[in-house]
Amino acid sequence: MILLLGATGYIGEAFARELMRRGEKFISLSRKDVDYTRFDALLGFLRANKISFLINSAGYTGKPNVDACELDKAGTLLGNALLPQTIAHACFAANVPWGHVSSGCIFAGAKISENGKVRTEKDMTQPALHALVEAKSPKVLGFDENDTPNFSFRDLPCSFYSGTKALGEEAMAGIGQSYVWRLRIPFDEFDNKRNYLSKVQRYAKVYDNVNSISHRADFVSACLDTWKLRAPFGIYNVTNPGYVTTRHVVEQIEKFLKPPRKFEYWTSDAEFYQIAAKTPRSNCVMDSSKLLSVGVKIRGVEEALENSLKNWKPE
Ligand SMILES: NC(=O)c1ccc[n+]([C@@H]2O[C@H](COP(=O)([O-])OP(=O)(O)OC[C@H]3O[C@@H](n4cnc5c(N)ncnc54)[C@H](OP(=O)(O)O)[C@@H]3O)[C@@H](O)[C@H]2O)c1
Repeated sequence: MILLLGATGYIGEAFARELMRRGEKFISLSRKDVDYTRFDALLGFLRANKISFLINSAGYTGKPNVDACELDKAGTLLGNALLPQTIAHACFAANVPWGHVSSGCIFAGAKISENGKVRTEKDMTQPALHALVEAKSPKVLGFDENDTPNFSFRDLPCSFYSGTKALGEEAMAGIGQSYVWRLRIPFDEFDNKRNYLSKVQRYAKVYDNVNSISHRADFVSACLDTWKLRAPFGIYNVTNPGYVTTRHVVEQIEKFLKPPRKFEYWTSDAEFYQIAAKTPRSNCVMDSSKLLSVGVKIRGVEEALENSLKNWKPE
């Protein structure tokens, strides 16, 4: 029996849908039924229900965005750093392997391979780097699972949310058997205020940068496949291979959805942070080749994006 935590959330509901589609036996647990954030309550539940695998899609995401986490730091820390540590200890005590939904937002920028050397660039909006992105240059590399987070409390600046997500990964490391599944900017064909493609359509002005992103159903399916294939435990970047600029996403939205509006862009980071955002935002390129190397199949980002827009379901 699989135990799913956080099924009431945006990512958790996608896990529940995919588990049902696969005919897997699972139990969804909400804090209002059993307070699974408490070690003894969770351990008791794992033992009483003979849980064979646990999926943690619970956590604290700021709503409507990460700025909200700056106003509830205790809640953010509890949900994103202490909760995975508690789950790790309970799963270890009950001998249950598990998977944790983490985030790619613990990185900023990309790696650049030039003149036989690889360096990290945190700001990919610099004109020379942006040109490499536009040209889809092979010099632009994503962060892989061996890279140390560079948008965290140990490598400032970062948002409080990102800092706690990086701490969560540290807090569970080395305890029992687990997967860390890094999600990044979820999107799909279902119009929803949590969907990146819906957000882009509703922003007054768009912030242009480059990111790897995760199709929600592709993400949960890939995560479940790591367990189904018995891939080695550890960290996996679970993004659709490749990356997109926000400008490209807007062009695709215009092409497929023909919205009755003209998109405008923030002219600079200074303007964006002065008016639309408070805490720093992570924008980053992720390398998902480790996921592919263990046999998990996941569409490229261009195909997933186009398919979502072709099958767009307005709210
Ligand atoms: N959505 C994104 O853009 C995104 C991107 C990257 C990573 N992630 C990660 O994916 C996970 C799920 O995100 P989501 O978007 O599905 O979140 P969500 O819609 O807010 O749902 C999260 C669920 O977690 C449970 N929960 C447990 N402890 C909590 C706490 N202290 N505060 C708030 N909720 C708590 C709640 O379920 P019950 O109360 O019913 O138990 C809640 O429904 C999180 O770890 C998040 O960091 C999300």
